[in-house]
Amino acid sequence: MIPISVVRLGPEVEQSVLEVIRSGIIAQGPVVAELERGFAELVGVEHAVAVSNGTIALVAALQALHLKPGDEVITSPFTFVATLNAIIEAGATARFGDISLTDFGLDAESVAPVVTERTRVLMPVHLYGQTPAMDGLLAVGESHGLHLVEDAAQALGATYAGRGAGSFGIGCFSLYATKNLTSGEGGMVTTNDAAIADRVRILRNQGMRQRYQYEIPGHNYRLTDLQAAVAVPQLATYHDQLSRRSANAARLIAQLADVDGLVLPGELPGRRHVWHQFTVLVPEDRAADRDALIDRLRELGVGSGVYYPRPVYDYDCYRDHPQVVLPETPRAEEAARRCLSLPVHAYLSDDDVDKVAAAVRTVLA
Ligand SMILES: Cc1ncc(COP(=O)(O)O)c(C=O)c1O
Repeated sequence: MIPISVVRLGPEVEQSVLEVIRSGIIAQGPVVAELERGFAELVGVEHAVAVSNGTIALVAALQALHLKPGDEVITSPFTFVATLNAIIEAGATARFGDISLTDFGLDAESVAPVVTERTRVLMPVHLYGQTPAMDGLLAVGESHGLHLVEDAAQALGATYAGRGAGSFGIGCFSLYATKNLTSGEGGMVTTNDAAIADRVRILRNQGMRQRYQYEIPGHNYRLTDLQAAVAVPQLATYHDQLSRRSANAARLIAQLADVDGLVLPGELPGRRHVWHQFTVLVPEDRAADRDALIDRLRELGVGSGVYYPRPVYDYDCYRDHPQVVLPETPRAEEAARRCLSLPVHAYLSDDDVDKVAAAVRTVLA
């Protein structure tokens, strides 16, 4: 069976974790600081602040902007639920634009009509490992005086016009087990704004700057050295992993290019895709039996995934929620109906990739 994702940690990680265990500092300490330095360099920002997970990274970023109840955040309807939950947790109200079916990210043209006088933040999601068209989003944000918070949970190392995902505004990353770079659970906030970094650091540690000197009501958002020790060794090989993912994606694209009605993903000009997921749109006339396609792929030894089966607001718990403004997002609905992610991870051999492509051709034939 070729799984949709694989977590494989080598002897360097075992050694690094062992060193932390033996050091006696297992909560936040020097290894978290080392991870923050490496991460900042990878993203191309001055500051990276490690937190306990990606959801908390989003919450902390919004809290750092001093949002008040009723302040609005415009985000993508086609995302993992954490994006929406973070907005609600931070006390703000969520509104949605629609996505582009080319990159699955927020489409700038759909944002302007939902801006109100309460809108404070634009929160694009760099879904599957590629940014949306940032120029347009930056322009809308600027013209309405909005802060930019990037949900870059899936996009460490992605670039747009040479700039790293997570370096345009406040970047929020996840180091969850299946992410390209992982600490099991973990998150990171990235910024070039020293005041924002300072506020997130203080929020992370009970609002405390010096022992028992509390500046703001804070929380415990800390990452541990034990977790950071899992992630730090992966920094050195991260670009090799991305090259492998990229080669796998290219091989899949070459072998699936002529399948009728199948929409393939691509690395768009001027962007670097980090291929966290390789997501196709199944032919429109096969969307209704996507579950059967998934079962048949599994029978042929190929794992797959649906990220995500519905627009994020389309659940009962959000339908009458006072902090959610329900939108009409036909493109997000189409993506949710037709999306299917195939294995692209760094541990696939060329034979594995060929097997994935052959299985897709078979089930769609
Ligand atoms: C787009 C997106 N946003 C936010 C998150 C939340 O990250 P975490 O699971 O680390 O809390 C994830 C990851 O799971 C994600 O994929």
